[in-house]
Amino acid sequence: MDDQSDNLFLIGFMGVGKSTVAQALCRDRGAVLVEMDQVIADQQDMEIPDIFGEYGENYFRKLETDLLLELKKKTGQVVSCGGGVVLREKNIEIMKSCGQVVLLTAGARTVYDRVKSNKNRPLLNNEMSVDHIKDLMRERRDLYWDAADIAVSTEGKSVHEIVSEISRKLENH
Ligand code: S3P
Repeated sequence: MDDQSDNLFLIGFMGVGKSTVAQALCRDRGAVLVEMDQVIADQQDMEIPDIFGEYGENYFRKLETDLLLELKKKTGQVVSCGGGVVLREKNIEIMKSCGQVVLLTAGARTVYDRVKSNKNRPLLNNEMSVDHIKDLMRERRDLYWDAADIAVSTEGKSVHEIVSEISRKLENH
């Protein structure tokens, strides 16, 4: 990475492309990839919808904060965050204290097309529709934009273009 003391945290709504872009950024920068949902699922030995179903959303949110506190101890990571990581102010504080926050965006229709056949997202499983996605996006919009150091739209761009845009914007930030 340009600055080894920095971690990069990719935030944004479900389905904007955080995981794919994080993988490409890692290859580009020789960084360590952290997929938060995957780490939490591995630690709990449970799938994300089962954690929500059995222990509730608040419990999952606490696991996210606990994991961020662990990540804060390390450098050179590209972290693909769960879409709801911005819901806790403490999470934003932790990310900002040990790295830069990159917001990825996409329109509700694009997100819907990307996530509609996936059953791994408890907040969408009961109501998979463009309108519901729009509502959730609206609720979170300010949180995402306030937390972000830079923002990049993933609409209609290749992963390579997105990675280049992120690198360029980080350099100028
Ligand atoms: C969530 C997003 C999911 C996952 C959980 C909750 C959210 O991650 O953490 O289902 O609240 O937006 P992705 O953004 O990787 O789908």
